[in-house]
Amino acid sequence: MSSPSPLAHLANASPAILPSLLLCDFGNLEREVTRLTAAGVPGFHLDVMDGVFVPNFTYGMTIVAAMRRLTSLPIDVHLMMVHPERYVEQFRQAGADGITFHVEAVEDPRPVLAQIRSLGAAAGLALNPSTPLSRIEAALDLCDLVLVMSVDAGFGGQKFNPIALDKLKTLRMRLPPGVCLEVDGGINSSTIAAAAQAGAELFVVGSAIFGQSDYQKAVSQLVAAAMLPVNR
Ligand code: DX5
Ligand code: ZN
Repeated sequence: MSSPSPLAHLANASPAILPSLLLCDFGNLEREVTRLTAAGVPGFHLDVMDGVFVPNFTYGMTIVAAMRRLTSLPIDVHLMMVHPERYVEQFRQAGADGITFHVEAVEDPRPVLAQIRSLGAAAGLALNPSTPLSRIEAALDLCDLVLVMSVDAGFGGQKFNPIALDKLKTLRMRLPPGVCLEVDGGINSSTIAAAAQAGAELFVVGSAIFGQSDYQKAVSQLVAAAMLPVNR
């Protein structure tokens, strides 16, 4: 993508805390967006699960479109589905700025990444903890974002898997500036510093925000913790 991707600026706002709306109060989505925006989040992470690629089912374009009406901040869509290539255009039309799919869900990620870029969205590629980096290496030149999962995709509230740290370190050395490095799963005030020092810039957070009554306090604690030195 000759011009910077619609998410590239988020890397400059590092540590960029992106709330994963999986655990939010969907009955009061507007209020949640208002509270999170007031807490200073630079964008939103939406988890789309199809009940096939992962043993859980969430939402689709309708919620993305609703979020688009509620915010002008970047919307980062995380597709945990089979055949993502069939739906990326609809997610783009619904208002997604970034569309990330799993390498485990496709034969060859390159045409899907190119398709997402051709729609003007940031093209993201995700891999689960047990998937080696070698599975994505041949497609890195077409990525605007790489998502390293620190839990097996499918549920919020899981424990951070440190296997993600070495992948982050390797990718940080490999990826050119402007390509966002994102981590997702079990990120909280105890795990965020290690992920930050391993090179992550975008931090997806679910239970460590929605488990708190004060979102502002939760977000600022995460930002502060991300900058702390890691005790070896
Ligand atoms: C899991 C999702 C994550 C999840 C994060 O498959 O991709 O975005 O909601 O939630 P926590 O921070 O609770 O692990
Ligand atoms: Zn996610």
